[in-house]
Amino acid sequence: MNSRTFAIIKPDAVKNKHTGLIYDRIIKADFKILSSKLIKMSKKEAEHFYLVHKDRSFYDELTDFMSSGQCMVLALDKNNAVEEWRKLIGATNPEEAKEGTIRKAFATSLGENAVHGSDSNENAMIEIKFFFKESELI
Ligand code: RTP
Ligand code: MG
Repeated sequence: MNSRTFAIIKPDAVKNKHTGLIYDRIIKADFKILSSKLIKMSKKEAEHFYLVHKDRSFYDELTDFMSSGQCMVLALDKNNAVEEWRKLIGATNPEEAKEGTIRKAFATSLGENAVHGSDSNENAMIEIKFFFKESELI
C-alpha cells in the first residue's frame, strides 16, 4: 500500500552541490515527489524538529548544523515509503552505510550525513505537516 515519508537533503549536501544527484536517486528509486522546497530552518525550528533528541549530547551541535544553511525538504510517496527511504539512505553513520546508499555516497560524517528520513509512519505524518500544507502535496 502506498504511504508517505518525509525527507531532508541536509545543509552539507546542498552546500556540496549534491542536491541534483540525490534528487536523481529519489526519482530513479520510484518515489513520487508530492512536494519539495528549499528552506533555511531557524535554530528554533531545528530544535522543534529534533525535539526527540533534546537530552542527547549532540542536540546542540545537530540543531546548529540543521539551521546552518539551505536544505531541501521533500514529501515522498511510495509503497512502504518509510522503510524504503531508510533503506535507500543507509545507516546514520556513513562508515556503516552500505555501498549504493545515499549516505555512503554523499555523507561526510556522522553529524553531517547528507539526508534525513522519518523513522515511522506516525512521525512521517507529523514531519510532513511541520513543513507542508496538505494543499501543497500534489
Ligand atoms: P535522521 O533523523 O537525521 O534521519 O537520522 P537517523 O534517524 O539516522 O539518526 P537519529 O538517531 O535520529 O539521529 C539524528 C541525527 O543526529 C546526528 N547524530 N549525531 N554525534 C552523534 O553521536 C550523533 N548521533 C546522531 C546525525 O546527524 C543523525 O542523522
Ligand atoms: Mg532520526
